[in-house]
Amino acid sequence: MQIISNINEIRKIVKKWQKNDETIGLVPTMGALHLGHESLVKKAKTQSSKVIVSIFVNPIQFAPNEDFEKYPRTLEKDSIICQDNNVDVIFAPNANEMYADKNNLTIIVPPKNYQNKLCGLSRNGHFDGVATVVAKLFNIIHPDKAFFGQKDAQQLAIIKKMVLDLNMPVEIVSCPIIRDENGLALSSRNSYLSAEQKIKALSLNKVLQKIKEMYEKNETNHEKVLKRASILLDEAFDMEYLEAYDANTLEKIEKLRNNTLIAIAAKIGNVRLIDNIIL
Ligand code: PAF
Repeated sequence: MQIISNINEIRKIVKKWQKNDETIGLVPTMGALHLGHESLVKKAKTQSSKVIVSIFVNPIQFAPNEDFEKYPRTLEKDSIICQDNNVDVIFAPNANEMYADKNNLTIIVPPKNYQNKLCGLSRNGHFDGVATVVAKLFNIIHPDKAFFGQKDAQQLAIIKKMVLDLNMPVEIVSCPIIRDENGLALSSRNSYLSAEQKIKALSLNKVLQKIKEMYEKNETNHEKVLKRASILLDEAFDMEYLEAYDANTLEKIEKLRNNTLIAIAAKIGNVRLIDNIIL
């Protein structure tokens, strides 16, 4: 497995593969890999003959008050995980390589309707930064398929929309949320949680499961369902949102139905967690 940090070098490798009719799967990450990322890599391996994992803590998707400096950087450990999963290449550029002219960047701005809700409300500019870096990775690597986790549901919807609107020749494959044995959705940010906070954090999934249970009993009034389930959130958490949208378009829904995204975000101390289910 090679670790490449240079754009021209990764392009040369990709060109050679394409000449040999290899199909390329890209798993974009910010590193601090966990079993959730591993599941993306495993899926990529089954659907592509070559797999690239990109590892880049993308500065332009963090607001100044967010955890860019503190975000875990564990390239050595990540390399072992990638090697064990037969990844062909890690692409790990630095910020100068990705943003040579950082004060004069062309930015991709996803539609307002996809941004003015959920995480977009508290994370100003976040999805511009995500869309821009993902577009750059697609332009650098030209993957046939790219693999993203359903855990970042708004990100996934925005990337699918960008690919559609900009005619990007890549298939977006969404992969299910991976949870630990207690039901906590895996996230690189879970490493910020104390053991006690990890137990309290299980209440996010409890809220979602309660909603699913009520929906399965034919309750479709989303306001009632969300209100009733929200009391299960541990009181140590500050709820940021618990909302329901169409999972593809992120449009408001009149009542709960199949393909409804139920998304929750809440803060415990300084740690902000998100989780979701699709009915
Ligand atoms: O989901 C992530 O880890 C990041 O937002 C992504 C897609 C790698 C872009 O930096």
